[in-house]
Amino acid sequence: MKGAVPMNKDTLLYIECSPRKKRSVSKKIAEIFLQAYQKKHPESLIHKIDIWDLKLPEYDETTVDAKFKIMSGSEFSMEEKSRWQAVEAVFDDFHNAGKYLFSIPMWNFSIPYKLKHYIDVITQPGMTFRTTPGGYEGLLSGRKAAVIYASGGRYDSAPLNAYDMQTAYMELWLKFIGIESVSSIHAAPLTWSPAEKDEAIENAMREAASLAEKF
Ligand SMILES: Cc1cc2nc3c(=O)[nH]c(=O)nc-3n(C[C@H](O)[C@H](O)[C@H](O)COP(=O)(O)O)c2cc1C
Repeated sequence: MKGAVPMNKDTLLYIECSPRKKRSVSKKIAEIFLQAYQKKHPESLIHKIDIWDLKLPEYDETTVDAKFKIMSGSEFSMEEKSRWQAVEAVFDDFHNAGKYLFSIPMWNFSIPYKLKHYIDVITQPGMTFRTTPGGYEGLLSGRKAAVIYASGGRYDSAPLNAYDMQTAYMELWLKFIGIESVSSIHAAPLTWSPAEKDEAIENAMREAASLAEKF
């Protein structure tokens, strides 16, 4: 089953994932990106989702049963149908965009649980992927994503790179749903020293403005 809303390639969906509205570094970098992007693409529509304000359907037994019924082609009960409609509504909003911007804080070496909940809701067979005899096929091809990560530490070289489950997970998931064109910006390290923090933010702001120009 596919969402009813078609892709609008001129819509950029911004998914904001930090609950820190005043002090968030990932949000601050995303705002630089969006300013530069809007200047370059005045015709483009920017739609924002604050992952902390979103009312997501619970991913409980009823929803999981509905998911497996989709996969096996079985009939829905009324309750499963209504739960599935809530899932489709969240997916439709995601599907409508041609470009995605995520701003994501690192939490315990991974992504915040609210983003994982969102991903669990929209990662559905027939919506974001389908199974094939050899594995999987992502259904959101032709789209692109930019991801801004913020972390206290810095994880771009060994041995600490093994701790970064955030970048690895997002890159894998985006590829899994068919989004091959993915650009990343890391604002890091933000807690090691004030000088390194300032430099990290400055570099990330510069990268964000430059990436938005060609996005
Ligand atoms: C709940 C929580 C868990 C965190 N876990 C990590 C972590 O595992 N590794 C790390 O480098 N920083 C960690 N941090 C620090 C944040 O990644 C850092 O403060 C970053 O600036 C958050 O992004 P934001 O400013 O956009 O909210 C954590 C912060 C919080 C609040």
